[in-house]
Amino acid sequence: MAGRQGRRGLTVSTLGFAMLLGIASGVVWIGSSRSASGSDPLAPALVAAVGKQMHQDACGSCHVAYAPYFLPADSWRAMADALPEHFGVRLHLDESERRVVVAWLLAKAADAGDSVIGAEVMSRMATSDQPRRVTATRWFRHRHLMISRSTWALPVVATPANCPACHHDAHQGIFDERSVHIPG
Ligand code: HEC
Ligand code: HEC
Repeated sequence: MAGRQGRRGLTVSTLGFAMLLGIASGVVWIGSSRSASGSDPLAPALVAAVGKQMHQDACGSCHVAYAPYFLPADSWRAMADALPEHFGVRLHLDESERRVVVAWLLAKAADAGDSVIGAEVMSRMATSDQPRRVTATRWFRHRHLMISRSTWALPVVATPANCPACHHDAHQGIFDERSVHIPG
C-alpha cells in the first residue's frame, strides 16, 4: 500500500499536511487510484478543508480565481484535462495540487446544486452548450447585457474576463451591485 501511494506523486509537504489534518479531524486519506468513472477518490473533507485556498493560490495569480459555480462540472473537467495548455499559457501545478483543486471545482460547480448563482447559470444553459469560459455562458452574457460595446472596448476593461475592472471586490468573490462600477 505504501508503495502504491509512493507513486501517486504527492509532495512531502502536501502529504504531511493531509496526514496532520487526518490526525486533527479524523479524516482518512484515500490513496487509491482513479475509479473507472473518472471521479477522484480524494477524501471530501480534505478537499473541503484546503480546496478553496489551494484554488486561490493556483488559479488566482493571473486573473481572479473564478468561482466554481460560474461553470458546470463538465467545463471544469474539460479545462482540467487540457492543462497544462491553458488559454495559451503553461500552467505548472504539481499533481497533488491539481487533484485537490479539480476535486474542489467539481464539488462546487454550477450544477452541484448548492449555489444561487450556479442555479442561474444552469437555468440558462442549453443542453448543447459546452462553455470553456465563464464569459461564454448565456448567463454571463444575459447578466451583462446592459454593458455597451464601447465599455467592453475600454483599455481598462480589455476583456470581459477582467471581472475586477468593474467588480471592485471580485478578488474576494463579491459581485453584488454595491461594489460594481462601470468605468468610463
Ligand atoms: C499563468 C497564468 C494563469 C494561471 C496561473 C491560471 N490561468 Fe486561467 N487564464 C489565463 C489566461 C491568459 C486566460 C485567458 C484570458 C482571456 O482570454 O481573457 C485564462 C482564462 C481562464 C478562464 C476563462 C475566463 C473567461 O473568459 O471566462 C478560466 C475559467 C480560467 N482561466 C480558470 C483557471 C483555473 C481553474 C486556474 C487554476 C487551475 C487558472 N485559470 C490559472 C492564465 C492563467
Ligand atoms: C465592464 C464591467 C463588468 C465586467 C468586466 C464584469 N462585470 Fe459582472 N456585472 C457588471 C454590471 C454592471 C452588473 C450588473 C449589476 C446589477 O445589476 O446589480 C454585473 C453583474 C454581475 C453579477 C450579478 C451580481 C448580482 O448581484 O446578481 C455577477 C455574479 C457578475 N457580474 C460576475 C462577473 C464576473 C464573474 C466577471 C468576470 C468574468 C464579470 N462579472 C465581469 C459589470 C461587469
